[in-house]
Amino acid sequence: MSQDINKNAPRHFLAEDDLTRDEFISLIKNAIELKASWKRGEIRESLQNRTLAMIFEKASTRTRTSFEAGMVQLGGHALNLSPSDSQLGRGEPIEDTSRVLSQMVDVAMLRTHSHSTIEQFAKVSSIPVINGLSDKLHPCQLLADMQTFFEVRGHIEGAKIAWLGAGNNNMCNSFINTARLLDFKLNVACPKDLAPDDDLMQKCASHIELIDDVKAACEGVDVVVTDVWASMGQEQNSAQLAKILSPYQVNDALMTLAHKDAIFMHCLPAHRGEEVTASVIDGPQSVVWQEAGNRLHAQKALLEMLVA
Ligand code: CP
Ligand code: NVA
Repeated sequence: MSQDINKNAPRHFLAEDDLTRDEFISLIKNAIELKASWKRGEIRESLQNRTLAMIFEKASTRTRTSFEAGMVQLGGHALNLSPSDSQLGRGEPIEDTSRVLSQMVDVAMLRTHSHSTIEQFAKVSSIPVINGLSDKLHPCQLLADMQTFFEVRGHIEGAKIAWLGAGNNNMCNSFINTARLLDFKLNVACPKDLAPDDDLMQKCASHIELIDDVKAACEGVDVVVTDVWASMGQEQNSAQLAKILSPYQVNDALMTLAHKDAIFMHCLPAHRGEEVTASVIDGPQSVVWQEAGNRLHAQKALLEMLVA
């Protein structure tokens, strides 16, 4: 008999399409309500006595703070297990860690170098597992980004978004997945050598267009989005990536080509003067602070959906 305790098949959130379209939209509506309720100063105890364990193999400001504060705001608690001061750093297998945490906490969130580490953890987990960013995807960020778009525009169906930068970036992959799920069109302007993964492109082909020309990609779109040139773990290739990606910088001239009410999005942290000019990220079309703030409420809605 398997020793794994995975009898009740918990619900995980490792990728955007682990939710159905209706679930994703109802989660966003709850996130908007949770934000309003928090601003009214209402006490909510939907996760009273529940604990979230967080494992970060890589740095974080927004993800860690929003999950920890979010658990407190729902009446629960969060704890951080950094590999350097847990047994993970001394070689305890990720599956064994998962089996142990399943006995002690109610939900786990992991930020890992390799997406397969989260999958290995989730495979034997009897509690819900959340992807807090991997080399492949950043689905929690897309919850906040879509919440932000809904707040600004009402609905996303039929909208047009332009992604500028590496096409194989975790944020780009997450936008590709979400375009299919929520039915918007995504123009991906990226160097040929950094194109999105073929399987992902095939899966989402009806909603994605690869466009060489950055100007054409931005023409008439509702959102322009980008991300750092070198993701965490790619620092050794920074100079080479900067050279390849500099033509994809989001600047005022490109924003002028977008729809007059277009917004600029970035998951942060950002490097002004590299992937985006200061005039755009600090300008009137930028919604980056709203996006960052929404991490808190979107993830509270996610925790309620998976755990409460
Ligand atoms: N956007 C994002 O995930 O930020 P952190 O790396 O600070 O968590
Ligand atoms: N693509 C970036 C996102 C950071 C939130 C990275 O993986 O480092």
